[in-house]
Amino acid sequence: MTRIVLFGTGSPVVADVEESLHRAGTIIAAGISNRPAPSQLSNGIPVTEADKVSAELLSLPYLVPLFSPGNRRTAFEEAARLGLKTPFTLIDPTAILPRALELGDGSYVNAGCVVGSRVRVGAFGFLNRGALIGHDLEAGTFVSIGPGAVIGGNVTLASGVLIGAGAVVLPKIVIGENAVVGAGAVVTCDVAAGAVVAGNPARPMPQQTGN
Ligand SMILES: CC(C)(COP(=O)(O)OP(=O)(O)OC[C@H]1O[C@@H](n2cnc3c(N)ncnc32)[C@H](O)[C@@H]1OP(=O)(O)O)[C@@H](O)C(=O)NCCC(=O)NCCS
Repeated sequence: MTRIVLFGTGSPVVADVEESLHRAGTIIAAGISNRPAPSQLSNGIPVTEADKVSAELLSLPYLVPLFSPGNRRTAFEEAARLGLKTPFTLIDPTAILPRALELGDGSYVNAGCVVGSRVRVGAFGFLNRGALIGHDLEAGTFVSIGPGAVIGGNVTLASGVLIGAGAVVLPKIVIGENAVVGAGAVVTCDVAAGAVVAGNPARPMPQQTGN
């Protein structure tokens, strides 16, 4: 059985990752704690401080269980500095995938996602529970799509974009780097880099910057 480590143990996302790993027949050898927060891992799974990680753990593939693109990017940089070398890509076995899916290293596809044809997602992507991804999506690195979001066909998401839970993005929309789409928003026109939009139809929120 494949064994991996989780880098970062404080996010509630850990619970879903544990379930997906269980369904996929993959074992968590240990969690690596990178912040002084209580571990969200189930009892019995060992947690190691980042400065006390063994060479054996450093040799294993690793996954960063964090949803926010900014936090995930920072954690991946920390993991690389620590000496972790092989990002693990986790696809929950309940996801429905197309024949041709390009999914970058270190990505996570959570339970119940339905991914359309010819989708491309860059490294360290996160498709959360039950997201519906339209055909021909072009997504950059560190893109996070929230639970139950609906992404139309031919959408482009630049690096670091966060799509909130249940948001709807209409076909052919282009969303700029590090932009945030609020939960439940309906995006009917392109979104500028760094913008935060919410509502139906989605409008920029005042005095906000992206994640
Ligand atoms: C849009 C968002 C980024 C704004 O976050 P924020 O800057 O912390 O905003 P606040 O919570 O301070 O709210 C500011 C105002 O916007 C409103 N608001 C917040 N989120 C909203 C949303 N999704 N749709 C509509 N209005 C929203 C608030 O009610 C508040 O209104 P008020 O000023 O009249 O009281 C955030 O609310 C959001 O939707 N994030 C996505 C989270 C998500 O879905 N994650 C996936 C989980 S896995």
